[in-house]
Amino acid sequence: MAEFKKVAEISELLSGRKEITIEENKILLLNLNGEIYAIGSRCPHKGLSLAQGKIEGNIITCPYHGSRFDVATGQVIKGPAKEGLPVYEVKVEEKDILISL
Ligand code: FES
Repeated sequence: MAEFKKVAEISELLSGRKEITIEENKILLLNLNGEIYAIGSRCPHKGLSLAQGKIEGNIITCPYHGSRFDVATGQVIKGPAKEGLPVYEVKVEEKDILISL
């Protein structure tokens, strides 16, 4: 069974996003209308940060060369990235955000 680990509190996501490092994994936590997502924060194209990427609906756009990813599935919607992002399972328990690595 997946093991969940507390990585943040909901109050830390009031701005909608927070980048964290857990066990050397760079992870971007997103709060999209109360739904919490956890995705890899390094764009698979050149390894640059998606932390400042524009978000429209469920789609995040890399600020560097415009790759687009679905934050729910990690899938590439538009290149140049060819690989998708890791997506982490999220659980919210009271004020805590837990993810499964
Ligand atoms: S680093 Fe993201 S599209 Fe190039």
